[in-house]
Order: sequence, then structure tokens, then C-alpha cells
Amino acid sequence: MTLGPSRRSERIAPFIVMDVLRAANERAAEGKDVLHLEVGQPGLGAPGAVVEAARAAMASDKLGYTEAFGVPALRARIARHYRDAYGIAVPVERIVVTTGSSGAFLLAFLAAFDEGDRVAMAAPGYPAYRNILAALGVEVVEIPTGAATRYQPTPALLDALEKPVKGLVVASPSNPSGTMLGEAELRALIGHCRARGIRLVSDEIYHGIVYGPRAHSSLEFDAGSIVINSFSKYFCMTGWRLGWMVLPDDLVRPVERLSQNFFISPPTLSQHAAVAAFDCKGELDARVRAYADSRALLTAELPKAGFAELAPVDGAFYVYADIGALSNDAGRYCRELLADTGIAITPGTDFDPAGGNRHVRFSFAGDPAEIAEAARRLVARRGGR
Ligand SMILES: Cc1ncc(COP(=O)(O)O)c(C=O)c1O
Repeated sequence: MTLGPSRRSERIAPFIVMDVLRAANERAAEGKDVLHLEVGQPGLGAPGAVVEAARAAMASDKLGYTEAFGVPALRARIARHYRDAYGIAVPVERIVVTTGSSGAFLLAFLAAFDEGDRVAMAAPGYPAYRNILAALGVEVVEIPTGAATRYQPTPALLDALEKPVKGLVVASPSNPSGTMLGEAELRALIGHCRARGIRLVSDEIYHGIVYGPRAHSSLEFDAGSIVINSFSKYFCMTGWRLGWMVLPDDLVRPVERLSQNFFISPPTLSQHAAVAAFDCKGELDARVRAYADSRALLTAELPKAGFAELAPVDGAFYVYADIGALSNDAGRYCRELLADTGIAITPGTDFDPAGGNRHVRFSFAGDPAEIAEAARRLVARRGGR
């Protein structure tokens, strides 16, 4: 008798960007140069005060388990963040500290949806939503989006679905498109979801990394949505594995039961350190200004390199580019680009299994000098210079 993996695990697609990273690392191990524009992680680490707070916690705290929902000081600091950044009062009891936003998605999806429920998300969209939902036996309904709706779902697109959905996951700014829902668009989606009993999950992980008007939290308009955020992106703390979510009242106790059993508690050292992160705005905003320079460079140079259409980069640190003039196979294009030029980027198929072959994603979160060199090589490869 052969023992095989579960049917549930067989439903999970790989996170292709991690495969690209492996290929890039193999190339680097052969002594060849690699320009990293594949992974969506800030080039710089945690701000200085966070590292200092971690040192202090190591010296003074025994770093045992915490309450499942996190240490009170961090939950209180997150509540203050909502007052300062959005002008809203969020009760501490509804704030849950999690193991990255990835941990928050697992808990939120488990608490809100049952096997067989239908949950919608934009295509292109962040692959882990699709893969976590699928692992839980939830039916993922991908809504094809494009430039006409700024790569975001709309009430009309939801209405056009064959069958109703129980939930909707949105991200603004989005990965991979970088586009945002304006205030009116977000309000319209929230109103639509409320009227039809659709649970809205709002991924706000890229808040703070914007190049125009600030991002609005769903919580400004609706206390009933599930809001998910993280210390990974604006706060540059990917490896600290810390995120948070704000829950509607009815999900607080169910998520508590789940998180007690799944994780016991989020990483204690990271929690103590993260309290300091909110006071590092000056340092972190300077990093956003550096992303803005790389964004300006890429959006100017990529069209010269044959990328005809770029999604409008309202926020986050990605350019989602149409490669229709260059290739009809994004995976092959990315492999060849890495082999020919050392530039690592991600095929659109990671974000949109159906339509992603026409797209690639550039991450400009890394070293500005590497990004400038990548732009130069891309234009040169196209014969533009
Ligand atoms: C849109 C989006 N949500 C969530 C995550 C997961 O981040 P983490 O688990 O580090 O908080 C990412 C990471 O790239 C992301 O792009």
C-alpha cells in the first residue's frame, strides 16, 4: 500500500516567486551576478529602534509564550496607530497579533468560511489567498480584472458572477498590480458587500507605501470587515514574522480558539520589538521616498524596453507589466531573462493562472542601484541604446 499526500495538499500550487528565487540563488552560487527584482521584500531591515527594542527584550524578558492575541502593549500601540493614521477608534479587544499576515489569513479564512463556500478575489492577485483558501476546501472565484477597473474588483464585476459569493478578498495597494481602490470605490465595494451579506477581507499590508493620496482602511467605513496588516512591508520586518488583524465582534472568540490551538502565540521577541516600529515613521518614510525614485525610473525606462503597458503604480513596490510585445509565455520569458541578463523577475502566472502569461512583475523594493542597472540592461537588450 502506498502512502500518499492528502488530497488537500495536492490542491496547492507552488508560490512561483519562491521558485524564481531558488533559480536566482543557484545562479549566484555559480558566481554569476543576479539583480533581484523578484521578491517583494524591502532591501533594508528593521528600523534601528526596533533592533534596539529587541536587544532590550532579549536582555530583560524570558520570552515565554504570550496571550494568543499578543502582548497588551503591542495591541494598544496598534489601536493608537489607527487613531493617528486614520482618525478612527478601534477597540483593543478586536485587535489580534498574528504570525505575519500569512498567519492572519489562515485564521480569518478558517473562522469566516466553510468548506464549499465561494470566495472571490481579483485576478491578478496575491497567490497565497487562492492557495490558502483552496487548502481549506473553499472554492476560489477569480474575477478577471484589467486596466479598466485599475485591476480591482467592482460591484458590477461581483454582480456579473454566475453564483453569489460568501466572501471577497481585496488588497489596496495590491500585489502584483500596485493599484489602489480610491475612497469612492472602496465605499462602493463595502456597501455592496454589506447589502449582499458578503464578508469583506481587506488586506492592508501595503499601507504606508503610497505615491499619491493615502490609503483608506476599510475600518473607516465599516467595522464589519476583516482587516489584515503586517510588519513585513512598510515596517521592513519580513523575517520577524509578525502581522495583525482587526476582527468584527462575531469572529473574535472563534479566532481566539483557533489561534490558541494553531500557534499558541505569535513570536514574543518580535512582539516586544514591534512596539517601537510605529515611532520610526521618519526613517521608514525616507525608505518610501527611495522606492518612489526606483518607481519613477522603472516606469520611465520599461516602455523603452518593450513593456508597452504598465499598471498604474499607486502604491506598494511593484510594476505589473504587459509583455505581449516580447513573449506569450511569461515563465519562459523570465527564465531566459535570468539566463541572459541576470535579472530575476516573476511571471504573471503566479498571480493569475489564466491570464498571467502576458505579464511579469518587477519588484522595486530592493537596492536602487540594482534596479537602475536592471533597467539599463533591459533597455540595452531591446536594442534601445
Ligand atoms: C498582498 C500581500 N499580502 C500578504 C503578504 C504576506 O506577508 P507576511 O506574511 O510577511 O505578513 C504578502 C507578501 O508578499 C503580500 O504581498
